[in-house]
Amino acid sequence: MYNTLLVQTENGICTVTINRPDKLNALNKAVFDDLDKVVDEIRNNRDIKSAIITGAGTKAFVAGADITEFSGLNKEQAKALAKRGQDVFLKIENSSKPIVAAVNGFALGGGCELAMACHFRIASGNAKFGQPEVNLGLIPGYGGTQRLVQLIGKGKAMELLLSAAMIDAHEAKQYGLVNYVTTPENLIERTKEILAVINSKAPLAIAGCIKAANAVFDETKDGYSTEIDEFGNAFATEDMKEGTTAFLEKRKANFQGR
Ligand code: COA
Repeated sequence: MYNTLLVQTENGICTVTINRPDKLNALNKAVFDDLDKVVDEIRNNRDIKSAIITGAGTKAFVAGADITEFSGLNKEQAKALAKRGQDVFLKIENSSKPIVAAVNGFALGGGCELAMACHFRIASGNAKFGQPEVNLGLIPGYGGTQRLVQLIGKGKAMELLLSAAMIDAHEAKQYGLVNYVTTPENLIERTKEILAVINSKAPLAIAGCIKAANAVFDETKDGYSTEIDEFGNAFATEDMKEGTTAFLEKRKANFQGR
């Protein structure tokens, strides 16, 4: 079903592994097509409550856009490539089910952009982040100039964008780019532990939080109005009745996503 991804679902968590290890999982057209498809699967499959994106092998999460696909592109074709990448990454960011990046090595260029499009990031100690596009006479095209500023602030983001500097996992954590740093061996388990907690909460409330938090960065939306709407919507769910009743009855809530 997928040419470039390994996809496995267990206990409500879909693990998506970008599988081009000999090319450090670089993002070519086929990977974008598959990522586009897998976000649909994550949305439509009722067995899936959340997802992890990671890279195959021990060296890279994703070492960037596939540079071999850049040669011969004219200005309009390059803009179309950036638009395609941005659209797929926006689809990840706007997924109503949490999608977390488990960054297991180089996350450069499009790899850093993919990790930033996820709802949050966990890194292994050997992870390295950076936007090295200026080394190639380019700028990031898949949302990197925007999300890096959103996530770590303009001053540090500017320095990374302009210098092409790589930062390690610990520095990334210090800037808030990643939430936790763990060992390579423990990365997927640690990410699954965090998602198991999230998966035990009310799915529609999770979706509401994602929508309202994303609205902060969406100029077409008023975040406070989005919050009011989502708060109201939550009151119309079975899960809200179950959650509040369970609290009052001093028992664990059993959420159904309705
Ligand atoms: N696009 C296409 N191929 C890539 C790639 C990319 N972004 N990144 C790595 N590869 C390929 C290499 O060409 C090489 O292929 P080959 O074995 O057929 O020659 C293979 O992956 C292994 O990479 P290599 O460079 O030999 O590994 P390394 O350990 O010496 O260096 C990096 C690792 C990540 C520092 C280096 O690969 C690199 O700088 N990659 C490009 C990063 C980048 O600029 N990304 C932004 C793109 S816009």
